[in-house]
Amino acid sequence: VIGAKCSRCGADSSADVVLSVCSKCGGALLFGYDFVGISSVVPKSALEGRKDSFWKFVELLPVGSAEDIVSLGEAYTPVLEFSDARFTGGKSVFVKDDGRLPTGTFKARGLSVAVSRLRELGVRHVAVPSAGNAAGAVAAYAARAGLRASVFMPRDVPTANLKECVFLGADVYLVDGLIGDAAGIVKRLKDAVGWFDLSTSKQPYRFEGYKAISFELAEQFGWDLPENIVFPTGGGEGIVGLWKGFHELMELGWIKRVPRLVMVQSSGCAPLVKAFNYGQSEVKELWSHAETVAAGLRVPMPYASYLVLRALRETDGLAVAVDDVDIIVAMRAFFKGGVYACPEAAATLAAYRRLLDDRVLDADERSLLYVTGTALKYFDVMDINRTRIPVLRKDAASLSDVVA
Ligand SMILES: Cc1ncc(COP(=O)(O)O)c(C=O)c1O
Ligand SMILES: [Zn+2]
Repeated sequence: VIGAKCSRCGADSSADVVLSVCSKCGGALLFGYDFVGISSVVPKSALEGRKDSFWKFVELLPVGSAEDIVSLGEAYTPVLEFSDARFTGGKSVFVKDDGRLPTGTFKARGLSVAVSRLRELGVRHVAVPSAGNAAGAVAAYAARAGLRASVFMPRDVPTANLKECVFLGADVYLVDGLIGDAAGIVKRLKDAVGWFDLSTSKQPYRFEGYKAISFELAEQFGWDLPENIVFPTGGGEGIVGLWKGFHELMELGWIKRVPRLVMVQSSGCAPLVKAFNYGQSEVKELWSHAETVAAGLRVPMPYASYLVLRALRETDGLAVAVDDVDIIVAMRAFFKGGVYACPEAAATLAAYRRLLDDRVLDADERSLLYVTGTALKYFDVMDINRTRIPVLRKDAASLSDVVA
């Protein structure tokens, strides 16, 4: 790492100190690397002998020493092929399933990197506002690292996220509001308590974990990435990370072409889709009455929206909002295909189907749907009608009890 640069005003910062946002303009900071130096020391072929985890790209991640890595055993997550007559017309689409990471979501990537580096720099207490999954990952990696974690989530956060954080021993707070309100509390108390604010896009560390998705995917696809990557977006760190990864792979000369990013939000909270479709360079107003089953997409005012929109424009990207009813239908389809996709992730399938129907995307191109997390954390939104499930007497003998 040779330093960090503000993505808004270009100001440089040293990577040797704890970083939050740009001290001049408040923009998001992004780490820069010495790619020439790295590619001479670590040729692509050197990676082949390493264990399949995003940590194999350690030279391209902002930790000083590999011994300081805080890991919960992040393995490569599988790329599967999915086809469903209703959704894809029987053609296949690739699916990458991050539901299999520690804590069950892709947030493990960003928080493994962030907690590793922050502990290395001497941080002892981290705080995060979260829709739920980032809080779980913060709690888990902080517990492993021996850091104190305070997590702030909307009071209607999915139960699994809440229980997970409590079991992990974090200081857990519910906020009578949404993630932006939680972020306000973390920021206000920051100086008084002295915790590090791990909010989305307000530090450069988490992006780096998501950027390594691009490296992992590129290797899995033989350094020839799919034409389209469909990614669910709330705060935008994931999609910005992917885009940063594409750039770095190009700089390293490890890929020849950058995929198109297809951003998906829920129509109950789609400020980035709206801004993109209006040709705006950032989200200017808070999305009011944000409501969706996809809890992680309920971000009414993303902090670094300008970066998400830049990533989309630069990759000739697309932005799509899908309805909750279609998300639930897509979840069922994913389940039948062997992928337990959470609502945020199922939104990618609903969006992909729409883009095929509208002939915006071509089913013959390689497209990848990014499954950011597991449905197993979303039992509260997976509504089933329990009264319609037969309860059998212990001595049920008649076939009619079972198949009637
Ligand atoms: C499962 C899941 N998918 C997608 C997202 C959106 O990620 P980002 O905030 O990086 O855009 C989240 C965020 O909480 C999430 O939990
Ligand atoms: Zn700046």
